Amino acid sequence: MNRVLLTATWNFGRLAVERAFNMLELGASALDALETGINAVEMDESVQSVGYGGLPNRAGYVELDAAIMDARGHRSGAVAALRGFRRPISVARRVMEVLPHALLVGEGAAEFAREQGFEEEETLSPEASEQWLQWRETQAPPADVEDSHDTVGMIIWTPDTIVVGCSTSGLKWKYPGRVGDSPIVGAGLYADEEVGAAVATGNGDEISRVALCSRVVFLMERGMSAQEACDEAIRYLMRKRTDASGTPPHAAVLAVRADGNFGVSASYAKFPYALHDGQSLTMGEREALEPE
Ligand code: GLY
Repeated sequence: MNRVLLTATWNFGRLAVERAFNMLELGASALDALETGINAVEMDESVQSVGYGGLPNRAGYVELDAAIMDARGHRSGAVAALRGFRRPISVARRVMEVLPHALLVGEGAAEFAREQGFEEEETLSPEASEQWLQWRETQAPPADVEDSHDTVGMIIWTPDTIVVGCSTSGLKWKYPGRVGDSPIVGAGLYADEEVGAAVATGNGDEISRVALCSRVVFLMERGMSAQEACDEAIRYLMRKRTDASGTPPHAAVLAVRADGNFGVSASYAKFPYALHDGQSLTMGEREALEPE
C-alpha cells in the first residue's frame, strides 16, 4: 500500500500498527484503523499501562484516559478517569462523534459509555490486583515514577487524512481522579489538518504543564520539519522542568507533518516506536536528547 504512514509508541506500538495496517489494507477508514490498533493494546492484559491489565490508582481502581482527534474538521473526543470499560479509545471516539463536548470524566464518562451500549467489565486484571495488594502493604511512592505511565499513542497519515489517538491507565498508584496528558488536547495529542499531528508518552503531569503536542504542531506550522519540532519541544520541556538533581521528566513525542514528514524525540534513552511506511514495518529506537 502506498502513500500511508503509521506510527505508534513503545514496543507494543508494533501490535497497534500491525492491526491498524491490516484494517487499512481491508479498506477501512483511518479512524477505524486507529481505533482497532489502539484497542489491540488496550485488550492486551500483559500491558500494564493501558486498558485492561493497567495498574490501578492508590485506591485499587483502574482509571483509564484516552483521546482521539481527526485533523479534518479539527474534531476531538476524550474520556478521563473512566472506570469499568476496557476500551476507552472507543468511548472517546463516540464522544467525538455523538456529543458537542471534548472531554467527559469519571462517572459522567461511564454513564455515557453505558448509554452508548458499551459493555461494563472488570478492568483490574489478576496480576494488576496482586501488584496493588503488595504495594498497599508499604504504600511506598513508586520508585520508578518515570517508568510507570507508558501510553499507546498512534498517528495515521495519508495524503488527505491525519488521525491521532492515545490511551493509558496513567501513573500507577496515582491519586484517584488524577488525569494525565493523554485525554488533554494540546498536551497528549494534537492535530491540525493544514500542519500535522503529534502524540506524546511519558510523565503526563509534566507533559501537560508544557502543552507538549500543541507546541510540536505550532513549531511545524512555523516551518520546522517534524524532527526539528519534536526536538525543540522536548528541549523546551527539559529546560522548564528538569529537577534540582538535573533529571529531566521522561517524555517522548512522535509527529507527522501534513506532507508526511516524520519526527520522533525523547528526553530519555532508548525510546522504542513502530513505523510503517506502507511497505514495511520497522521498530526504531530513539536516544535521549542531550540537555542544553
Ligand atoms: N502519559 C500518561 C500519563 O502520565 O498519564
